[in-house]
Amino acid sequence: MNKEQLEQIANGMVADGKGILAADESTGTIKKRFDQINTESTDDSRRDYRELLFRSEDAMSNWISGVILFDETIRQKAKDGTPLVDLITAAGSIPGIKVDAGAQDLAQSPGEKVTEGLDGLRGRFQEYYQLGARFAKWRAVINIADHLPSQYCLNANAHALARYAALAQENNIVPIVEPEVIMDGPHSIERCFEVTEAALNALYDALYEQRVFLEGTILKPNMVISGTENTNRANIDQVAEQTVFCLKRTVPSAVPGICFLSGGQSEEEATAHLSAMNANFDMPWKLSFSYGRALQQSALQAWLGKEENVAAAQSAFNHRAKMNGLAAKGEWQATMEKAA
Ligand code: 13P
Repeated sequence: MNKEQLEQIANGMVADGKGILAADESTGTIKKRFDQINTESTDDSRRDYRELLFRSEDAMSNWISGVILFDETIRQKAKDGTPLVDLITAAGSIPGIKVDAGAQDLAQSPGEKVTEGLDGLRGRFQEYYQLGARFAKWRAVINIADHLPSQYCLNANAHALARYAALAQENNIVPIVEPEVIMDGPHSIERCFEVTEAALNALYDALYEQRVFLEGTILKPNMVISGTENTNRANIDQVAEQTVFCLKRTVPSAVPGICFLSGGQSEEEATAHLSAMNANFDMPWKLSFSYGRALQQSALQAWLGKEENVAAAQSAFNHRAKMNGLAAKGEWQATMEKAA
């Protein structure tokens, strides 16, 4: 393990005013996104869509520090034969790879999930490094219900995240650790706080036990936010404040950066929350984004699977990336959306 290299990559992932594009939708998930725009999901259509994102000059050179890829994409070539990975590095951005194999039912605990994918992971990391990946992602899924999550679920997921992180670092790949507390449900922001705090405590205990080098990691958490079906939703300032309080209680200051998932928030909400945190609080780590849907929604809607819409889709993506890059510095204003 080369600690200096890991630290350098991790710091690059949270360079000033930059964040991560999560373009690692599995084949099943990207099909769902394409269904919404009546576009068939094929090798070529997935390639065309991702190629247009990675060729978005303004976004990729100025606001996107790294891109999380799916296994198919890290091996794919652009229409002109250039490996997609080379488009990312040519823009000065860092290629990353999703390595988990998805969440499966947790044995003996109805309603809960555990993420699989540890078998053979050491060899896969070696191959992904050769293919250009310098960081990786593993996502755990934690559901909130009246009596969930159980401590068993939090511990099982934290253990897997730590095993993954230690193996990634052994191969000089920076692990993004993502314990996602799911937004779905009628729960309050207080309940989200309690569960997120417990999940992050379990995670950092496991990372310590398994000797993970924190300076060479990035945390990808949910924000502390009201459940989607909650009728008395917390506002932007409350979400910003509760999220920062929760992270300060649980995340060691040795961690260089925290990049949020968007988790079903609208594009503008995800941007507004991030900007409010950076504008109003002093923190020991960089706070940025690693959004999937909140960076891609408008671009997908502009593209509609049509070649003639590529420029419009790129301009939508450039705009979203810029808004989030400004939010990572606490400099976003709602008026900037209207001006665009
Ligand atoms: P969303 O921002 O759409 O939640 O996706 C981020 C991600 O990579 C989830 O693992």
